[in-house]
Order: sequence, then structure tokens, then C-alpha cells
Amino acid sequence: MGDFREVLFYHSETKHYPYRFARSLGYLDWENQPNPFRFWEGTERLDLPLLKDPSHPYEALYDYGLVNTEEFNVKSLSKFLELALGLSAWKAIPGSRWSVRMNPSSGNLHPTECYVIIPHLGGLQGVFHYNPFLHALEKRADIPYELSQKIKDFFGTEGFILILTSIPWRESWKYGERAYRYCLLDTGHAIGSVRFSANLKGWKVKYLNALSDKDLEILLGFDRVQWVEGEEEFPELALFVFPKEVQDVPRTIPESIINEFKKLNFYGRPNVLSKERVIWEIIYRAIKETEKPRTEEFRVIYGNPPILNLVPSYMSAEEVIRKRRSGMAYDGKTYILRELFIHALDKTLPRDNYSPFDVEIGLPFVNLFIFVNRVENLPKGLYCFVRNEELLKDLKEITSSEFLWEKVFEDFPLYLLKTGDFREVAGFVACAQDIASDSAFSLGMISLFEPVLREEPWFYRNLHWEAGLIGQVLYLEATAHNLNGTGIGCFFDDAMHEVLGISDKTFQDLYHFTFGKAVEDPRIQTIEPYYHLKRERR
Ligand SMILES: Cc1cc2nc3c(=O)[nH]c(=O)nc-3n(C[C@H](O)[C@H](O)[C@H](O)COP(=O)(O)O)c2cc1C
Repeated sequence: MGDFREVLFYHSETKHYPYRFARSLGYLDWENQPNPFRFWEGTERLDLPLLKDPSHPYEALYDYGLVNTEEFNVKSLSKFLELALGLSAWKAIPGSRWSVRMNPSSGNLHPTECYVIIPHLGGLQGVFHYNPFLHALEKRADIPYELSQKIKDFFGTEGFILILTSIPWRESWKYGERAYRYCLLDTGHAIGSVRFSANLKGWKVKYLNALSDKDLEILLGFDRVQWVEGEEEFPELALFVFPKEVQDVPRTIPESIINEFKKLNFYGRPNVLSKERVIWEIIYRAIKETEKPRTEEFRVIYGNPPILNLVPSYMSAEEVIRKRRSGMAYDGKTYILRELFIHALDKTLPRDNYSPFDVEIGLPFVNLFIFVNRVENLPKGLYCFVRNEELLKDLKEITSSEFLWEKVFEDFPLYLLKTGDFREVAGFVACAQDIASDSAFSLGMISLFEPVLREEPWFYRNLHWEAGLIGQVLYLEATAHNLNGTGIGCFFDDAMHEVLGISDKTFQDLYHFTFGKAVEDPRIQTIEPYYHLKRERR
């Protein structure tokens, strides 16, 4: 097991301060910019069909009761993967063109990769890499029929395993030592993206929390891959995707099944991403200290507080996923409805029977400290949305004694801490980015920290996944209501702690987010996502 003090060290070392940013090259080495796409060279490729989107009501993002379950086959998997992690557009200005995806990523660098292990379902079998550039599956291994049968028997249902991984070099190329945090936050967004897309197929998703990173490496054949030094890919987590009618599934895979993957023949080699790369030692250390061992399975019961549907959306769920775009500048004037503010916050509450927190990443440890800049009929000020009321007492104790902790509404865990104009503060703590002050509201995600890491140092990852997942919900909520969101990984950690009066590591700030009316840059042209593929596939 890793040493939690080392994890605390990584976190402290990679804080941004107004006078010193976390260590990075300090300039962009364009010559060595990593390829944002992984290709497994020498593998058999299965091109997935590009199909018309179905049209589910926006509420179906959360409520699988509104969706008919689809069978597992090439068509359903294709749409599932496309809406989870596929390309959503190309953007262009004269002389430059870049793709954007359904899932957001810090700096649009996309360290997250996705693999699916399909045990003889709908004419497909194998360990595959999903290549979002080609919208294709690259086959890394065949799975013998008997092994497929063992997997199905063990889970007691049809379904497939989905594994997310990270390539830290893609992020560290630009962000240096803080990059590992961004990989984890991006993974959280990807978990959300996967979960929402699965919901629209009538599929549930559960985190296989007992597995170790070594288990995942065996499942992916990574234990036999020769990575280019500096371009290693690390497993994040495994999810199991299955029909919603099935009540529950095991959260593990027995070693007898894992061991069978050791016997498989894995095909292909990873493409080289850069000509040269920089080794950031501290990231390797952090990965080692947060390595997940095999553990007992756990289940989390969140309860089922009634979902507050206060503001409808006139977009389909699929449109919401496709249209999500990070705001790059906010208009500094639009007020949002108070009902929408409440409606959006409500969707960040974990519920047993609603997507996306039913993935069960862990207990809810992350709470939102919100700068209300422009919300109608709500005084400007600093608020706290307590996602886990068991932490309320601790939150009161560790934050400024001047805070009011006045409940704003009955039966809703939103507390007013201090009235006042926090726009300047909100922008300043977000590395002086105006996007945090020109929006309707922006927030910092404050998580229980040291007490969690003392027990399980690898939970550093889960805490960031939880924050990323909350960010993904807020992105979709903003989009669904013709607004925008932006994840903010660049924030002055301790400056935010100071605003809140936090002086130790019981709680720490992991991520920021802003939500409001963005102004579009008219110079940027939008091109359809798969125009680069052969005409017959479009
Ligand atoms: C973890 C994370 C951190 C981010 N941090 C910032 C940030 O500090 N400032 C910013 O302007 N955008 C930030 N973004 C937004 C990304 O730049 C954006 O997601 C990316 O350019 C892709 O664009 P898209 O979200 O429209 O797909 C962040 C996004 C994520 C997921």
C-alpha cells in the first residue's frame, strides 16, 4: 500500500500560488506535442457505423425508467461509445484545426483512453481499444468462448467490462507536475460521459472497486507492453456495463478469471506520441503511491432523495451531450433563474437509482463552495452546497467562524455563508481567470482529504473522479438550459482555502467550475465530427 504522506506531498507540491505556479516547462514545446489519439498499430480494426442519434428526453440522462433497454450489438455499442467518448466536432481558425469530444479535457489534451472487454455479445468478442478518431475498435485480443461463458456466469448477466486509462504525458507536456491531477479529473468526466451514454441505452454501470491496478493491467495485456519511456499508459478503473433490469452485479472479478487473461495472445503495439518527452519524476511517484491493491468489494447506499425537476429542457438528451462546449469567455451580465440554480445543484446529489452517481465511486466526500455572482432573487455571496450532510459539522468547524451557515430553503442542503460581491475573489482564486467572475456562479469543490487518504491513499484518485463527475453533471445542466460551463483546473489552492478559512489538510480544494452565459468567438468555425472519414462511413 502507498504512503499517504507521499500523496499529501504530491498534492502540496503541485499547488498553484499567485507568486509561483506548480512546476512545468513554462513554455509549449510544439515540436513534441503528444498525439491526442492512441492507435494500436498492427491490430485488426472494426469500423463502427456512424448512426443517426436517437432522441430521448433530457430527463433520461438521469432516469433510466424513461429508456427502453437495448440489446448489446455492434449498433448499440457504436452509439454508446460515440456519445460517451467520440468526437463531437472539429474547430478551426485559419491555419489551425483541432477536434473536440463528448467528454471535456484539461487543455483539450485528452489523456483518457478507453478499452472494452466484450465476452461474446451480439456477434462481438475480444479486448478492444476504442479509437475515437476513427470511431473504430482495435482488437487487442480474442477471448475464447469458454472464458466468455465464465465471465457471463460470474456476473450472472450479459454485459461488458469498460476500462479507462490515462497517459499522463499528454497533460504533463503542457502542465508539468500538476498533470496527474488533471488526468484524474478528466477520468471523472469520462466516467460521467460513459454513465450518461449508457443510461440512454437502458444500461447501468458499476465500478468494479475490488480490482487492483495489476488486475487491470492483466486484463488489458499492459503487463506485456513495451511502452516508450515517458509515454506509459496507466489503468484508472474498470466499470461493468449491464442491462438496467438486473438489480446488482459483483464489484470484482475472481482471480481465476483474471489469470485466464494472462494466457491470451495480445496483438499490436502502441503508437509513439512524441519525438521526445520530459520525465516528471513526481508524477511517477504519485502514481506509485496511489496504486490500488486488491481490496474487499464495497457498495455505497446514497438513498433516493426525490429529484427536483424545476426547469425543463427543450433539447433531447443526445443533443445536450453533443452540444456541450466549454465557455471560453462569459458575458458578465446574464442572470440565471434561481430555480435553475437549484435544479442544477440538485443533479449533483448522489442517488441510488439515478445516473451518474449510481456508478458508486465511493462515499460522497466533495462539497461545493459557491460564489453566487448573478442568480435572480438570490443575494450575491458565498454559499455552501453540502452534498454529504454527515460532513456538515466538520465543514462548519474547519471553515471561518464568521460564516452564517443559514439554510436557504427547507429540505435542500444549500447554506448561505456570507453575503457580498465575491466576483473579484472568484476570478482571483481561479488563477485570475475572468470566466469565474463573469459567469452566473462559480465554485470550488472541497473534499474531505487527509482522513480519507490515511486509510486508503489510492482514494486520492476517487476523490478527483468524484469532482470530475460533478463537473460533468454541471456541464450538461448548463448545456441543457442554453448556457455553458467550464471546468477550471487552474486555481490557487491555498488562496481559496484562505477565503474559506481552511488552515489544515482535513479538507482540500480539488477542482473549480463556472456556469453562465458564454460569449462565442465568431472567428472559430465548426466542422462536423467525422468529416475526415470516408464518405461511405458517414
Ligand atoms: C479538468 C479540467 C480542467 C480545466 N481547466 C480549465 C481552466 O483552468 N481554464 C479554462 O479556460 N478551461 C479549462 N478547462 C476546459 C478545457 O479547456 C476544455 O474542456 C477543452 O478545451 C475542450 O473543450 P470542450 O470542453 O468544449 O470539449 C478544463 C477542463 C477540464 C476537464
